[in-house]
Amino acid sequence: MNQLLRGNTLCSDGIAHKKLRQVVMRPITPAALASLGEEVEHEAQAIVERLCSKGRFCATAELATHLPVTIVSNAIGLPEEGRERMMDWSIGLFNCFGPMNERTRNAMPVLSEMMEYARTQAVPGKLKPGSWAEAIHHAAAAGEVPSEAVPGLMIDYMGPSLDTTVFGISSGVWLFANHPDQWDLVRNDPSLIPAAINEILRMEAPIQDFSRYVARDYDLDGVSLPEGSRAIVFYGAANRDPRQFPHPDRFDVRRDNAGRHMAFGAGPHACLGMNLAKLEMRALFTTLARKVTRFHVEVEERALSNILRGFRKLIVTVQ
Ligand code: HEM
Repeated sequence: MNQLLRGNTLCSDGIAHKKLRQVVMRPITPAALASLGEEVEHEAQAIVERLCSKGRFCATAELATHLPVTIVSNAIGLPEEGRERMMDWSIGLFNCFGPMNERTRNAMPVLSEMMEYARTQAVPGKLKPGSWAEAIHHAAAAGEVPSEAVPGLMIDYMGPSLDTTVFGISSGVWLFANHPDQWDLVRNDPSLIPAAINEILRMEAPIQDFSRYVARDYDLDGVSLPEGSRAIVFYGAANRDPRQFPHPDRFDVRRDNAGRHMAFGAGPHACLGMNLAKLEMRALFTTLARKVTRFHVEVEERALSNILRGFRKLIVTVQ
């Protein structure tokens, strides 16, 4: 784990982790997110109408990026200046997890730039009043979290809220383009959309793996994990485990995956932004189901990332 990330929620443990998590989670519980619902739906309709009238667009850059970059950045409350760097920071953040290759090395200065922004720009006076980021500063002032943890907690919002959701959305479009029968099921019965979102994330887990520090010698199904080493958890592989998911390579929007797929991880560190990601995906696919009969992929280019899976470019036409 990169030293720069020490002290944020993902890179902390035990009671310290619990306290940080409680504070970061506050504005993104299902109850708290209810206030964002209307705005998310409005933006989803606006972007879908605009793109459908064009008829041809990039499902990553034009469709999937819109909600995370407009609504989420605004709710975090960062100053306008610097926001245009957020997508690059998000990509850099995920590349810095290693292994130590050229992508990891190139990501280090990007991560430093992001931390510098968190330290110098995401500060009281520059943040939007009433925003998530401002609430972190209030929590530090009230002694709920140590003040030195604050920049790391800004990264908890800024880093994982973009590319993950963006890749989840455009992978969904790609799956539906390749499985028009499944799109028909969703169009005819939109109550399938929550299950379809779980199935998209199972098949195309945006985060493929993270590693864990092995705190003590451990035997896992006869494989010994020595204390002090790192174990990689492959969410993408777990999601295709045939013991859990019969015919795992089959995209089936009627599959009952709720609470079983691993795209959001599991246990004390399970994704704390999952309700926000699902809210955005639900709004978009619900609107698309009303407007689009078929997606046709014209150009697809996968993103090269150390741990993320998704499309850098996905040009589609719609009818
Ligand atoms: C489809 C979208 C998303 C996916 C697939 C995803 C996936 C994940 C995964 C796999 C983990 C690690 C879980 C573990 O270690 O067991 C995680 C943790 C985390 N995610 Fe997400 N995430 C998504 C969206 C978001 C959003 C929108 C936010 C922020 C608003 C967010 C914030 C976080 C944070 C702060 C953690 C660390 C939690 C902790 O250590 O307690 N994620 N996410």
